[in-house]
Amino acid sequence: MKNILITGGAGYIGSHTAVALVESGYNPIILDDFSNSEKGVLKGLKKILSKDVKSYEGDCNNKALVDKIFKENEISGIIHFAASKAVGESTQIPLKYYSNNINSLLVILEVMKKYGVKNIVFSSSCTVYGQPDHLPVLESTPRKEAESPYGNTKKICEDILHDHIKSKPNTKAIGLRYFNPIGAHPSAEIGELPLGVPANLIPFVTQTAAGIREKITVFGNDYNTKDGTCVRDYIHVLDLADAHVKALEYLEKQEDNFIDIFNVGTGNGNTVLEVVQAFEKVSNQKLNYEIGPRRPGDIEKVWANTDKVNNLLGWTAKYTLEDSLRDSWNWQKKLSGI
Ligand code: WQD
Repeated sequence: MKNILITGGAGYIGSHTAVALVESGYNPIILDDFSNSEKGVLKGLKKILSKDVKSYEGDCNNKALVDKIFKENEISGIIHFAASKAVGESTQIPLKYYSNNINSLLVILEVMKKYGVKNIVFSSSCTVYGQPDHLPVLESTPRKEAESPYGNTKKICEDILHDHIKSKPNTKAIGLRYFNPIGAHPSAEIGELPLGVPANLIPFVTQTAAGIREKITVFGNDYNTKDGTCVRDYIHVLDLADAHVKALEYLEKQEDNFIDIFNVGTGNGNTVLEVVQAFEKVSNQKLNYEIGPRRPGDIEKVWANTDKVNNLLGWTAKYTLEDSLRDSWNWQKKLSGI
């Protein structure tokens, strides 16, 4: 069974990807410093998988630790999730973001080369597009000035991968540009665990519905969209996890020194108000929301062109927005003991 190292594997997308890897016959090994995740995730994984997922606690920037993991395990591939990812926070402490997100990738690539490990799937983001001029957005769309230091670290990491592969290190890489991951595992054993006040829409919606937050503010309804609120491509985390397995399988078939980038979204856009209405439908309860001012840095609308990921990776999103919201709500009810 092939060992796949998942850095940040106790996180939201990482943990769901660990499940998808096991279900596809791989053996995930988690490296996580638990700075933005909880050890309870490992218990949740055991409940879903009926077995422990081997894990190491530590920082990807710790080269000695990463080297130890490669020495102790025959690693076949890496999925590199570990990064600081709060857009707003990145504007307040940019140096932490540049140091953590860039150096951790450099450490992984250097240790991969030392041990002759070839395959890496890198967690990138649609944020590299900024506000695209044309929609749905294509991978060939020129990346724009990043809206945040977080987004810039993703652009820089993509460039590092391209330059590294050009140097012919006998490594193969795929970058996956995520759109907006939402939802949770249907078992409600794992899901999104925002620390503190959620920045993202869906955890704020579910916490409001659970009575943790008094109301949700819709950030602006004066955009040039069907109902004035922003449009995003909301993708179920199970679909996103599956895309990582498909990317790994595709990568294993490529020649050395291969690199490519793929959008991973549903290919559909929904407005914030459409999300609110869909949530009220699946939860069968009214959501207390008000319209407020725009949030600085928000782009108006973005959703993915998914032709490339559909055709080359043989992957397409299976879950609907309502499926995702239903699973998010079930997870929130489990967290809140409702
Ligand atoms: C979605 C929409 C808000 C909260 C960010 C990162 C992106 C990725 C996903 C990491 C926007 C609106 C939100 C609220 C609201 N993260 N909203 N009220 O900003 O599209 O993407 O998270 O890779 O890189 O940029 O996601 O969930 O914060 O916002 O009206 O209380 O919901 O204005 O239109 P976003 P989001």
